[in-house]
Amino acid sequence: MTETVTIKIDGKEYTVESGQTILEVCKKLDIYVPTLCFMEKMSEGGHCGLCIVDVKGARTFQRACITKVRDGMEIETNTPAVRDVRKTVFEMILADHKIECPVCKRDETCEIRKVAKHLGFPEFEVEPIYTDEGVDNSIISREPAKCIKCQRCVNTCELIPGIGIYGFFGKGHDATVEPPKSLSMSETPCIVCGQCVVRCPTGALTERDDTEKVLEALYDPEKLVFASFAPSVRVAIGEPFGMEPGEVVVGKLVSALRRLGFDRVYDVNFGADLTIVEEANELISRIKNGGVLPMATSCCPGWVNFVEKFHPEFIPNLSSCKSPQAMLGALVKSYMKEIEGISEEKIIHVTIMPCTAKKYEALRPELSGDTDYVLTTRELARLLKRFDIDLSKLPEDEADKPFGEYTGAATIFGVTGGVMEAALRTAVDWLSGGTFDKLEFTAVRGMEDLKFAEVDVNGTIIRVAVAHTLSAAEKLLHMIKNGEVEIHFFEVMACPGGCVGGGGQPIPSTTEMIKRRSEGLYSDDEKRVLRKSHENPYIKAVYEKYLGAIGGEKAHHILHTTYRVVYDILCKLEKWDNLLGNTPQIPTPGGKNGTTEDFTRPS
Ligand code: SF4
Ligand code: SF4
Ligand code: SF4
Ligand code: FES
Repeated sequence: MTETVTIKIDGKEYTVESGQTILEVCKKLDIYVPTLCFMEKMSEGGHCGLCIVDVKGARTFQRACITKVRDGMEIETNTPAVRDVRKTVFEMILADHKIECPVCKRDETCEIRKVAKHLGFPEFEVEPIYTDEGVDNSIISREPAKCIKCQRCVNTCELIPGIGIYGFFGKGHDATVEPPKSLSMSETPCIVCGQCVVRCPTGALTERDDTEKVLEALYDPEKLVFASFAPSVRVAIGEPFGMEPGEVVVGKLVSALRRLGFDRVYDVNFGADLTIVEEANELISRIKNGGVLPMATSCCPGWVNFVEKFHPEFIPNLSSCKSPQAMLGALVKSYMKEIEGISEEKIIHVTIMPCTAKKYEALRPELSGDTDYVLTTRELARLLKRFDIDLSKLPEDEADKPFGEYTGAATIFGVTGGVMEAALRTAVDWLSGGTFDKLEFTAVRGMEDLKFAEVDVNGTIIRVAVAHTLSAAEKLLHMIKNGEVEIHFFEVMACPGGCVGGGGQPIPSTTEMIKRRSEGLYSDDEKRVLRKSHENPYIKAVYEKYLGAIGGEKAHHILHTTYRVVYDILCKLEKWDNLLGNTPQIPTPGGKNGTTEDFTRPS
């Protein structure tokens, strides 16, 4: 039986489950307590001091995020004294933070602005004390002057990719949260997943902004500018315009891109169908011809970076297929040249992705030229708002042919397990000679971080695994190495829930929103008439007219790639370990400067 306690909050009595923090209880009861460092299930908080509440009988105000409820506790969340201390704490945070709200990329999603509104910000007088060190313009871009030292990025990088790029250094006002020795982000072994960006409450961490370069291209009369958008963008881009997470907005998105001036609008889902056709063919060939198994998916650049930097022994396992973004980019340019006589130099291909790592992928020497610029879902939303284009009010439009048509299999690429399910639909169909009528492989669906399944195709058993987040992938690689599992094929997505929870998606990106975006993709799949990639008539036509045989020489040349051990980063890794070894432990939760004095109850 669940143990309960009876407490009073703001004069009202509640019976609640014991063992919870005051903050957890308040959240469930819809009582607003401001927070800046707390992150549900990931960081207990205790650093910023904003969540203080008055607990009757306690000598000092208590932090709601780390104080557990006790039977008989009487809590006041919003007295004038509590608000006064919160204001003092907040003034200290603000003084150390470069305020440039009108031009800050975080815009209305900045959590500082939310707290400021709650506390009545215009009344404050803040003397700035921050040091402006400029911006590290790596793909994961850092602006130290906007960092409030909440340490969410420290926890995020340790828990989701399991890497630990950031540390907390120094004390008091001079404390910093950054990579060791103030290395730039591109000098670290960061795999560019962007999860720290999604969880940073301020504009201190953002993606490198490529919107100006795209605008320049759009206004260049010499260029033809094409846009293509990824599977999971269609269920998230509506959010910054007041639409619900999971609402599928393909038609409106196509309209919006045309209004921005793109000459043609394509769908990365076409690239996803193409990837499945080539990948399923590669898998069957590896199984039949004794190739390296288990084969691993290669469409997530965060995962590919992880293998190249941390597990080069698994490079032979990676499918040689390019990602949908890169396949589509390479195909569009070479197809246009050969079939429409448009030179590759004339075309600028811009992709809209849920992903910061795709910006890195576009720069890979092996893929260079396939994609010219990558905008995240957030960047596109900002760009549309700059031109006063309200996506929610736009009419529906259709993407251009032939690269705008897709099947249900392609659309579920955006969710964990989706690439696996799409590949199984095609591989199983081919292996069974079309006699296997199973379409939905629900065993690979869901938010469990590691899933295993097997499919019996007329006596041939195919065993597969699916991991999302690189901490889960690390566990899987360990199991494969130790012979604890025997599988043929595995899918890894670096982000929680897959690309629906990608590092370039709108902020906030809560577990509930990720779930609803996933449901949106599954419902899009169900509504498609064709749900297997190899049945896409435009894919068939492109092979017939241009690519030749699936897995053939031309297809291989355009659609496949190679990987490499990232030696320079590996060399740095040795140094990295030493540096991390010197990283001081995260201090015991205290006040802003590690003390409790800041929160003493006023006499
Ligand atoms: S970079 Fe962002 S998440 Fe990290 S400590 Fe600073 S404000 Fe917090
Ligand atoms: S982008 Fe990913 S790997 Fe890089 S620092 Fe952020 S969380 Fe860590
Ligand atoms: S899971 Fe998707 S969004 Fe995340 S790094 Fe991989 S491809 Fe990018
Ligand atoms: S949210 Fe509780 S101390 Fe920051």
